[in-house]
Amino acid sequence: MKHLIAPSILAANFNNLEKDIEVINHSEADFVHCDVMDGVFVPNISFGIPVISQLKQVARKPLDVHLMIIDPDKFIADFADAGADYLTVHYEVCNHLNRTVNLIKEHGMKASVCLNPHTPVAVLEDIIGELDMVLLMSVNPGFGGQKFISNTYKKVSQLRNLIEQSNSDCLIEVDGGVKYETGKKLFDAGANVLVAGSFVFSSENPEATINNLKAL
Ligand code: DX5
Ligand code: ZN
Repeated sequence: MKHLIAPSILAANFNNLEKDIEVINHSEADFVHCDVMDGVFVPNISFGIPVISQLKQVARKPLDVHLMIIDPDKFIADFADAGADYLTVHYEVCNHLNRTVNLIKEHGMKASVCLNPHTPVAVLEDIIGELDMVLLMSVNPGFGGQKFISNTYKKVSQLRNLIEQSNSDCLIEVDGGVKYETGKKLFDAGANVLVAGSFVFSSENPEATINNLKAL
């Protein structure tokens, strides 16, 4: 199974974002993970559409945009215009998830749904065949640098079974507290994509850290 890495720029240097994007460009990373927070769904505010569209001009990897916002439908067209390749919405804010997923695809993006640590994998049973990716949160969303919740390994295996039963080629991405040890166990449990923020950008050599994660 392919091992993909999505460095999260939440932990990058916002005074010189281009420099950190260049690190990602030169590395073996597969995506640039962009965390959009609204201060309502999560207790923090990050960055939004203008930043994403400027990033798009320098990033040579697909943008993996993780929306931690209420009412994502309202902004799907804007994120498509800004250059998002994968758009992730939270299950917990979508009353009409099927409609939201269709809307993302109609705008030419890959559709992904995120589950908070307390949301069981089984809620995706009737939509899994329509998803390009599922993002499992392994911390409570809102901040980088938090401790990995180990219940996530079990959820990765459950999701892997669900995907196999549905004959889909949906990717499993995990986000929060990913380091070498947790990352290795996640890949072994059946994850495809690891998001890593603080572990990459607070390391001495972020490019090497990305490449080492990919080689786990
Ligand atoms: C948390 C974000 C994550 C965050 C991960 O709400 O969704 O993408 O950047 O940060 P680390 O890797 O530091 O846990
Ligand atoms: Zn994220």
